[in-house]
Amino acid sequence: MKVVFRTADAPLPRLVARLVAQDALPADLDAVVREGAAAARFSGKAGQTFEAFVAGEGGVKRLALAGIGKADSEDRAANLEKAGAALTAKYLTSGESALAIDFTGSGLTGAQAASVLFGARLRGWRHDVYRTKLTDEQKPSLAEIVAVAAPEGTAAAWEIESALAEGIEFTRELVAEPANVIYPESFVERCKARLEGTGVEILVLGLKEMTELGMGALLGVAQGSVREPKLLAMRWKGADVAKPTAFVGKGVTFDTGGISIKPAAGMEDMKWDMGGAGAVAGTMLALAKRKAKADIIGVCGLVENMPDGNAQRPGDVVTSMSGQTVEVINTDAEGRLVLCDALTWVQKEYAPATVIDLATLTGAIIVSLGNEYGGMFTNDDALAAKLDAAGKTCGDKLWRFPLGAAYDKLIDSPIADMKNVGPRYGGSITAAQFLQRYIDKGVAWAHLDIAGMVWADKPGQTWDKGATGYGVRLLDQYVRTVLEA
Ligand code: BES
Ligand code: MN
Ligand code: ZN
Repeated sequence: MKVVFRTADAPLPRLVARLVAQDALPADLDAVVREGAAAARFSGKAGQTFEAFVAGEGGVKRLALAGIGKADSEDRAANLEKAGAALTAKYLTSGESALAIDFTGSGLTGAQAASVLFGARLRGWRHDVYRTKLTDEQKPSLAEIVAVAAPEGTAAAWEIESALAEGIEFTRELVAEPANVIYPESFVERCKARLEGTGVEILVLGLKEMTELGMGALLGVAQGSVREPKLLAMRWKGADVAKPTAFVGKGVTFDTGGISIKPAAGMEDMKWDMGGAGAVAGTMLALAKRKAKADIIGVCGLVENMPDGNAQRPGDVVTSMSGQTVEVINTDAEGRLVLCDALTWVQKEYAPATVIDLATLTGAIIVSLGNEYGGMFTNDDALAAKLDAAGKTCGDKLWRFPLGAAYDKLIDSPIADMKNVGPRYGGSITAAQFLQRYIDKGVAWAHLDIAGMVWADKPGQTWDKGATGYGVRLLDQYVRTVLEA
């Protein structure tokens, strides 16, 4: 969705939206529209919409009212996004190709107006590339948002927010693509293509390099697949600091479970088992596009988990790059095996002060939190507070879980240093304990289990059903408020 800026005196498209504060219909509205809105119980609550047809120059005009709620609401930014999102959701397939949002009399600041545009753009995203039989009525018609009489500072704020939107859309695209299209190598190729010219440096390790480095845990997962595994590192160096920050993503491009195979029902969901890696890639694009003043390494551990004559077996013992050995009790607990080598590598290669990993790691986190919060596990209370605050600000919310020695000993193995699964209960926590065994002393680390967040079965505030792009806003917000402040 393209956004353009225009003054109020230039000719407007047929469809024009006005923003309405709660219980405050603009006085300059036509009496029929005012009465109609009241009759339809439109009061300007955030996300409410109302449509009227009015006589205008050259024919009938479509006038949309979008509620933005109360000015003193605690959820002001989210409400403004909701208003923009409600408009694009309503008019995406309306037949109209352009939607003007008239900010006249809205009283918004430039940053607030940019929030409306941001919500509109995010909610207007769809992945239709494989739908060849859509009728004209089913096809999205809306391609352009015209910001009319935008408050001062809107264009400057939009410059930044549109970079973030681009990152979120890239993540959604990676997550939505099926696993015959996005596999480790093609994931890397898409990132290369999208990041070209942005200033992000790219480093890719293949089977040979990872074998030489001794990444036996990651490679054990990959060995049942004909797809070559990849480790993708992307660096955005927008600041000169002593130690960078690392974001690490689980990129299992398809998770069958391996020999510990998953049931058939719902297995297709496992195409989005690369949602952590997708969020890292989208974040790198956003940071580079808005030229963030921070030094960030984004690492994606990319493998496909398949059953095969060459696949690893339950009971196999693998040696990770750290030297620690793992008894693979369940080949479906593969994400931690991929992440442990990615974590060791990034710490060894870049000595980051802070490491944040994102992974669709456990079904248990969905049992705990549903689709409202990502689970947070961290060895650092200050980092917990910063991530929690970032989540509250941007809407990608997190809820902290405990770590501790009593949980840690649940993954001791009789034959190796650890096993890759604990008992049934507390499954998200023992998964986090496993990862913590790969974190060097002095490194502030957080693990975000986002299994319930990357895919939505129904439309949400700023997304349609499908890939949400969760994690990109969170990491971007963390960079803004913690690293760029
Ligand atoms: N990718 C899955 C976790 C998952 C499950 C994500 C459902 C999204 C929806 C992960 O690799 C996995 O299979 N985890 C197992 C771990 C178990 C074998 C200890 C799980 O959660 O069942
Ligand atoms: Mn699995
Ligand atoms: Zn998985």
